[in-house]
Amino acid sequence: MAVGIFDSGLGGLTVLDAVSKRLPDQYFVYFGDNAHAPYGVRDADDVFDLTTKAVARMWDAGCDLVILACNTASAAALRRMQESWVPTDKRVLGVFVPLIEALTERSWGDNSPPREVSVKHVALFATPATVASRAFQRELAFRAIGVDVEAQACGGVVDAIEEGDVILAEALVRSHVDALKRKMPNPEAVILGCTHYPIMRSTFQEALGVDVKVYSQANLVADALADYLERHPSMKGKGADNLFLTTGDTRKVSDRATQFLRRRIDFQSV
Ligand code: DGL
Repeated sequence: MAVGIFDSGLGGLTVLDAVSKRLPDQYFVYFGDNAHAPYGVRDADDVFDLTTKAVARMWDAGCDLVILACNTASAAALRRMQESWVPTDKRVLGVFVPLIEALTERSWGDNSPPREVSVKHVALFATPATVASRAFQRELAFRAIGVDVEAQACGGVVDAIEEGDVILAEALVRSHVDALKRKMPNPEAVILGCTHYPIMRSTFQEALGVDVKVYSQANLVADALADYLERHPSMKGKGADNLFLTTGDTRKVSDRATQFLRRRIDFQSV
């Protein structure tokens, strides 16, 4: 079986890269909905419609398990998909929970009551739709008490990354970090709550200062997926080369992906 990795665009490649290094024999199908990115400025119904259309295409490409490597889709559409849309023989998982488990010092699936954790001041950088959903705060409240979260909606960063405009993306990241620091001058931990942002990780770290711990999802999701596949071996599957699908311009998307991953990636049209 193929495992699907879905994102609105290029950001999920940060997750694809980590999962394919962690699970080199597993066959992956990547789907970037580049024609409709960014999702972060869309409403929840729109994100649901686009995400379900993409995931249905991934079922057709042989996936039984799809990871929404997109916080915006995980925040705005995942619960509704799991409750009313996903067929019983398929699975769709999001990227929030592994991150929150790491932050709250929990192992996989520890559903014990919320408790005090060592970090008290957490900054969240995410898209406007993810921030508006408050999904991060909701998941955190199930697991931890007494954590102060300051969320910064980072308008424009995803568009700049999708367009390959690194100078603009860097300037926007710096201005969003400044805005966050005005609200929370000394965060102890920072969450990059959008899979596009690790592409700008060094700019975030530089603007925040070297002492601030920055959490991003790729390796956490890779560990969680490896664990999941051990427990659900029927979802595993081998393949020669991973398949990359996009709704966007295949040449442009392939060039950007090659630039980000520093190896040749060839996308096909969906
Ligand atoms: N990379 C996605 C996320 O993790 C989506 C960004 C967007 O399309 O706005 O939220």
